[in-house]
Amino acid sequence: MQLIRVHDKQFEPYLTAEEIDSRIKMVAQQINQDYAGKRPLFIAILNGSFMFASDLFKEITIDAEICFIKLASYKGTKSTGHVITAIGLDMDIIGRDIIIIEDIVDTGKTLSEFLPQIDHQQPSSVKIVALLHKPEAMVYPVKIDYLGFSIPSKFVVGYGLDYDGLGRNIREIYRLAE
Ligand code: IMP
Repeated sequence: MQLIRVHDKQFEPYLTAEEIDSRIKMVAQQINQDYAGKRPLFIAILNGSFMFASDLFKEITIDAEICFIKLASYKGTKSTGHVITAIGLDMDIIGRDIIIIEDIVDTGKTLSEFLPQIDHQQPSSVKIVALLHKPEAMVYPVKIDYLGFSIPSKFVVGYGLDYDGLGRNIREIYRLAE
């Protein structure tokens, strides 16, 4: 088994490029079926989802649009705590069918804070597609409508996901070695 080092940690192979690719094709096929006759707007959350979004979107055969946003978290007032804002969402989403693309849902905090903001802008529907999900780590429940892989609560890198900035350019997904 080929271990790799990212910063100070060792990672072991977990999902191959082929496994990721064939799973994405299946997920895309489902979306193509479910949205036939519609024109969904995909909203990909940067940075982590850039590779997944690109490969998924290539498999979408129906009319569809995509935009990329970044979520910024800042300290609000005492009562509001941390506030998440979307940077770059310059499209009008009223009445649109939205599909949010996320790399990984861990605790669910990011999406549970972001979803109300999307709902507030009165889209026609909102669904989530995530490449990875760690069900054991879920603290803030969010419904993932289309999922690549359900994985154990171990830190992973590769395929867009980073460990402290590094590892995003790896084609496979590696997980922290014991
Ligand atoms: P959540 O808000 O806890 O669901 O975390 C979501 C975000 O945390 C993801 O979009 C990732 O950027 C990051 N994240 C969570 N788990 C991992 C991991 O195992 N590897 C790399 N990034 C992760």
